[in-house]
Amino acid sequence: MERKEEVIETIDIPVAERKYLKETNPKFKEKFFFIIPLLILLFFVSGLRFSRNSKTNPLKNINFNNANNHDHSILGHLPYNEISKEKLVLIEPNIEVHIDMSESLLQMKEDAKNEGIFLVFLSGYRSINLQNNIFYTLKSKRNQIASERARVSAPPGYSEHSTGFAIDIGDSNKRDTDFDVKFENTDAFRWLKKNAAKYHFKLSFNKNNKNVDYEPWHWRYEGSIDALKVFEASNRNINNAK
Ligand code: DAL
Ligand code: ZN
Repeated sequence: MERKEEVIETIDIPVAERKYLKETNPKFKEKFFFIIPLLILLFFVSGLRFSRNSKTNPLKNINFNNANNHDHSILGHLPYNEISKEKLVLIEPNIEVHIDMSESLLQMKEDAKNEGIFLVFLSGYRSINLQNNIFYTLKSKRNQIASERARVSAPPGYSEHSTGFAIDIGDSNKRDTDFDVKFENTDAFRWLKKNAAKYHFKLSFNKNNKNVDYEPWHWRYEGSIDALKVFEASNRNINNAK
């Protein structure tokens, strides 16, 4: 018995001591005044970040791959890279085109001439910079909203002209029909409609186009694999629409 009591006395079991900080305690005040402002600050900063993301940065919330824009088109126009300068060739004053289509284009003009049809080249390669001016300067001058402007002009970075593979054609005897739907009533257009495919040219914007107006003067070259690659997305779109 004596030995057992001795053991119990010598074991020192640690017991947690519970201490309460009273409001009057200076340590309580110290913690209260430090933690509460910190929590308010954290709340404020996270709220600010949320509102910045949702309001001041609208692009951040755009899903570019949404169901209606698989092809990344804008207002009915597909994106196109600008041709590199070394692939451009000047075929007439102010008319530069992709070197791959120059021969075929000039041959088409020559053959038309031999049949009494006088084609005139109105616009070939256009830089993205120039397209930017054409789109926005005229948009402003004509007081048009973007979708109206895009019916007749591609936004910068979205024009076939920047690839060097597009050419606008007029009738040398009917210059009043330049860039006008009336061009479809000219001999030049009738000849092109009948013969252009021989030279690998195709009308880009026909009457069935949904977002872009009919352009009987605008032709594109599809006579090389490079050109076909450039216009693959466009050709798929048209096929899918049928
Ligand atoms: N006029 C055509 C759509 C263009 O600007 O490329
Ligand atoms: Zn054009």
